[in-house]
Amino acid sequence: MSNSNQKVALITGSSRGIGAEIAQQFAKSGTKVVVNYSGSKDSADKVVQSIITNGGEAIGIQADVSKTTDVSRLFDEAIAHFGRIDILVNNAGLMLNSFIKDATDDLFEKQMNVNVKGVFNTLREASTKLADNGSIINFSSTVTRTIFPTYGIYSATKAAVEQMSKVFAKEVGDRGINVNCVLPGPTSTDLFLKGKSEELIAQIASTNAFKRLGTPEDIARIVTFLASDDAKWISAQSIGANGGMA
Ligand SMILES: NC(=O)c1ccc[n+]([C@@H]2O[C@H](COP(=O)([O-])OP(=O)(O)OC[C@H]3O[C@@H](n4cnc5c(N)ncnc54)[C@H](OP(=O)(O)O)[C@@H]3O)[C@@H](O)[C@H]2O)c1
Repeated sequence: MSNSNQKVALITGSSRGIGAEIAQQFAKSGTKVVVNYSGSKDSADKVVQSIITNGGEAIGIQADVSKTTDVSRLFDEAIAHFGRIDILVNNAGLMLNSFIKDATDDLFEKQMNVNVKGVFNTLREASTKLADNGSIINFSSTVTRTIFPTYGIYSATKAAVEQMSKVFAKEVGDRGINVNCVLPGPTSTDLFLKGKSEELIAQIASTNAFKRLGTPEDIARIVTFLASDDAKWISAQSIGANGGMA
């Protein structure tokens, strides 16, 4: 995508899964990339190295998105290195499923802290530190449109992200920044596959129009479009990326 040349993208949680693929696709289109991670340094280093080997520009920055001071440092280090940030992708997320009757305070707080407070932390930084005419893509999930037992807390965190994104879109629109949410359906990453039997995975995959799981590439292509100048008139929207599942 030619119009993303020389832009700088900060992708939270891009050491693995969908985030790592977004980093690779941005780099291929000429965007400089900040690969954020919380614990998976080796995986983040591999993403950065692969981008550089393929002629792109990337750095890795450790920061736990749920921590205010980490996120402030993440923005400052990214700007110190690349001079600006044009694109923020809030991809970092946790899914810890449980029936509400069995859920511990810890399980509730972990998901709220990473999925909701993490997005709040980065949006607050972005309100002054993202460049004018920038783009923000936040990650929700198709589970805000379905009603699956055990997804109560996780889907509540994602519904909060969708609402916060719409409000934020109206708060920063005067700087030319558009803000949208992507809602992936089941996608073949650790987050979805871990702990599920092959039968269950096949059954879930059969619930969309194409009868297959989404791939990180499917989702990354949509994010790349939403970050492009061609998508500028789309803002405050929640966009299903789920092969027609819901
Ligand atoms: N896969 C699906 O089926 C699916 C469906 C709908 C929505 N989503 C959403 O899509 C996003 C990406 O999911 P995924 O499937 O790619 O997950 P994943 O494979 O588990 O990867 C999660 C990424 O987030 C990072 N991360 C976790 N906690 C973090 C924190 N506190 N601070 C910074 N980074 C953190 C991880 O890095 P570290 O290892 O370094 O912590 C990792 O890079 C999430 O928001 C998820 O909720 C996924």
